[in-house]
Amino acid sequence: MHQHNTQTEKNLESAFAGESMANRKYLYFAKIARKLGADEVADLFEETAHQETGHAFAHLELLYPSQEMTVERILELAIEGELYETNQMYPEFERIAVQEGDQAAVSEFQEQAKESAEHAEIFTKAAKRFKALGLVERYHANRYINALDKVQNKTTEIEPKLQSKESNSKGSESAA
Ligand SMILES: [Fe+2]
Ligand SMILES: [Fe+2]
Repeated sequence: MHQHNTQTEKNLESAFAGESMANRKYLYFAKIARKLGADEVADLFEETAHQETGHAFAHLELLYPSQEMTVERILELAIEGELYETNQMYPEFERIAVQEGDQAAVSEFQEQAKESAEHAEIFTKAAKRFKALGLVERYHANRYINALDKVQNKTTEIEPKLQSKESNSKGSESAA
């Protein structure tokens, strides 16, 4: 278990970013290699890309230990990330791209900021649905518990009667 707010935590974030980038970059290179007819090189890039995914997941396991995660938490983390992109990262990148006169980058940053906002919305809806589902499940669980209680109470009501019948018949047997 690693500690929070340490240089090592920052390094894990950087290492995760690097391995993730290597994964996407190699898949992109594989596409180029395949287009250029170098299938063997394309295969090599794809295989290595899969290994980079493994490396990235290993860092994530330390950053977000799976045994500590809940569905609510992972949705919350995803929403935080998308909102950061929407409200801070892309607006700042766009501002600089405007200053530097890079119109292609300006358009891309604007477009992706919009998509990040959409992702944040989709995750927020999913979080609400999940919460509602939890409430419904709890409602059902309570109904089952109540129903079970009733059945069990009936059984305990019935049992003495059965027992008294049994003891009656035993009594008559012994009398005979
Ligand atoms: Fe790696
Ligand atoms: Fe996104």
